[in-house]
Amino acid sequence: MLDRYSYQSVVTASEVIHWRIEDIIGGDKRLDFAKPFMPEAFARVEELSFLDHEEKLVLNQIRGNAYLSIFGLVEEFILPFVLDQARPHLSGDDYRVRALLQFAGEEAKHIQLFKRFRQEFEEGFGTYCPVIGPPEAIASAILAHDPLGVALTTLHIEWMVQRHYVDSVKDDKDLDPQFKSLLKHHWLEEVQHAKLDTLMVESLAAGRKEEQIMEGVEEYLAIGGFIDGGLKTQVELDLDSFERAVGRELKDEQREEFRRKQLQANRWTYLGTGMTHEKVLATLEWLSPAAREKVESISPAFF
Ligand SMILES: [Fe+2]
Ligand SMILES: [Fe+2]
Repeated sequence: MLDRYSYQSVVTASEVIHWRIEDIIGGDKRLDFAKPFMPEAFARVEELSFLDHEEKLVLNQIRGNAYLSIFGLVEEFILPFVLDQARPHLSGDDYRVRALLQFAGEEAKHIQLFKRFRQEFEEGFGTYCPVIGPPEAIASAILAHDPLGVALTTLHIEWMVQRHYVDSVKDDKDLDPQFKSLLKHHWLEEVQHAKLDTLMVESLAAGRKEEQIMEGVEEYLAIGGFIDGGLKTQVELDLDSFERAVGRELKDEQREEFRRKQLQANRWTYLGTGMTHEKVLATLEWLSPAAREKVESISPAFF
């Protein structure tokens, strides 16, 4: 049974949570580069035994920078997608209009927050760490897919953010408190987005036959494949950033191990944790038991 959400309760909840960028970054709120940014469940730097303690910290922070930058990147497709869903029904349910515009406004704020973070990271880290892009190209490639596939991708991303914070960030006392605070504030607003995504999937699936539902699910998987290609590129970028940051070149076999293990770490971070999220699976099952089965048959590749 799918949880019931309403546009009205989402509007009410998001009015209470609202925070400003200026209140959470800048001034005395600085990143502490002596501490890790990412939980080990996602960074998986300990598996790379040929790195020393300092080098593991450097890689962890490179992954942290990529993490927030990749969220900024995906939110650049979520923002126009949500506006597209709002526009045809502007004279319909007032709470629906307000909830979706609030959603879009929050994503615009998150994009700005992540850009602001990136600036501060670049100033403090000392080595330029590129991230896949450009955002507009990635957004148009994703938005070219069936809207149901795009809505399922958005649902996946936003439940995944919930899981990351609750399971791995909230109680990790070793992480930099400032980085953690950015994740916490993002998470607080994303809870409402994940509920709205569920409602968007329901409305986009309404009236579709089983076959058309499965087409939407295939499109969701195709977007996942596209993101996976991006993650492979990101691992190469991270490897290069890492070698420049620590000032040494890894041996060929170490590079291979870095690529292999970091690709799986990235896959688990951005794909596996979303595809196996119980709420994502519940929505898939509500669409069609075959949709859930299909995704569950593929997700082990991303553990
Ligand atoms: Fe966001
Ligand atoms: Fe969001």
